Amino acid sequence: MTDDPSTATDDATHATGADADGSPDAEGSADSGGSADPGSSAEAGTAVRRGRFSGGPAREFLSSLDADAAIFEADLAVDRAHVVMLAEQGIVDDATAGEILAALDDVAAAGHGALSGGEDVHEAIETAVIERVGPDGGRMHTARSRNDEVATCIRYRLREDVLEAIAATLTLREALLEVASEHVETTMPGYTHLQPAQPTTVAHYLLSYEGTVARDTARLLDAYGRVNRSPLGAAAFAGTPFDVDRDRTAELLGFDGTVRNSMDASSSRDFLTEAATALATLSTTLSGLAEDLILFSNKGFIDLSDDYSSTSSIMPQKKNPDTLELTRGVAGDAIGEATGTLSLLKGLPRAYNRDLQRAHAGVFEVAGDVAEATRVAAGAVATADWNEGTLADAAGEGFSTATGVADLLAAAGLPFRTAHEVVAEAAPAIDDGDSPATAAETVDEAARSVLGESLFAYVGRDEVERALDPAESVASRDSAGGPAPDAVRDALAAAADALEEDSATRDARRSSLAAAAESLEAEVASYA
Ligand code: ARG
Repeated sequence: MTDDPSTATDDATHATGADADGSPDAEGSADSGGSADPGSSAEAGTAVRRGRFSGGPAREFLSSLDADAAIFEADLAVDRAHVVMLAEQGIVDDATAGEILAALDDVAAAGHGALSGGEDVHEAIETAVIERVGPDGGRMHTARSRNDEVATCIRYRLREDVLEAIAATLTLREALLEVASEHVETTMPGYTHLQPAQPTTVAHYLLSYEGTVARDTARLLDAYGRVNRSPLGAAAFAGTPFDVDRDRTAELLGFDGTVRNSMDASSSRDFLTEAATALATLSTTLSGLAEDLILFSNKGFIDLSDDYSSTSSIMPQKKNPDTLELTRGVAGDAIGEATGTLSLLKGLPRAYNRDLQRAHAGVFEVAGDVAEATRVAAGAVATADWNEGTLADAAGEGFSTATGVADLLAAAGLPFRTAHEVVAEAAPAIDDGDSPATAAETVDEAARSVLGESLFAYVGRDEVERALDPAESVASRDSAGGPAPDAVRDALAAAADALEEDSATRDARRSSLAAAAESLEAEVASYA
């Protein structure tokens, strides 16, 4: 704020006028650039604040210029769209617009690294434009503030990150479906509490993650819809007297519309927390998948490809699942970022506060990390070998077919609880190596003791033996969404359809951004 004694060193005229609240303008203003003369100062500093409010000893602390590299491209696009709109509305004449747009091309070609210091990329680019064009360059900042500008830049950049994360989820789903379709009949142990619980199949297991990741895609697509709205034209928070066309800048920048209320537009960041939490949720899904695959490779159920493994610098025999461990680890960063962003925003008063400067950079970074972790998980899944023999042997371990035997007795007319009691009585006496015939005998003994009659008074011996076989056990559980091969084939087909639909949605989003970028480029070229 400007009442900081270390920065508010004089009360002389401000570089670009006063804000709506009359405070010295640390934010830029909505004035026309005609009442002030931003290019005329010989004092050192940026065109915006000239010698004043340079930050003094807190200069570095105030500046986001380095972190703003992430929104350099975004800011150039936002500047271009704004200038085109100002010209179309007759707020800036075409010749001046042409000069500013040419200067922006030059600034773009020089790159972010060529910007001279300043509080942020917005100020630095404006300074660079004024250096090239002269005082008229300052007309670029007519009818806007850095507040709506930065909010627009964040959304412009974030939508790319979200689209990239969406694309990564599609890749992962494709890999999960591909491998699942090869293992519809491959039995494996299913666990609860990390103990063998019931046999299932590799396809059923992989589809369980495909379902979760599909919801991650949906959450990100949903977030995208709220990210992709333009705050531009809101100015500092209180609108502008200039006849701006907010819908036009939104269109030029590929946004689906505006955030209408100008105070909401420039100060809210819920779109950011929504994207951050969707990313954190995706990373949490990935961490579970990674953990499972680490355990499975430990048990010899899968062999990870060398491409997704690492070794030890001292123990030459080691093949470690490092990529999956890092995938699991990214969730820590993503959850931290989501929590950090919410914490930063909690309790912020309306409208703009400088805390906001610290809200977005970490989200961009984590979005890239989560997308990469998602692609790595997809690669690890696609290239791992599932050891069918080991999996089949393990599928029946720990009397995991017990529930199926109880189901059989219940289907034959016993109350399920009584059936459960019979099988529970048999459980401690059943060993992993027992043949189905031996195990059936053991259950029969239990039935005689619990029911006072033979098991085979209720069900056939062959039926019991089948229920004790892991593959038969799986095949019997054919309820919707269950592991029986037919149920899984239905689920695979439905998942493939949903994946195709989401891919089409993502492609449509991408091409509408490309079309907007092209049309903005054409508009800009028309001023040359
Ligand atoms: N760098 C600032 C940010 O990221 C831009 C907005 C500055 N606005 C202000 N009123 N100081 O938030």
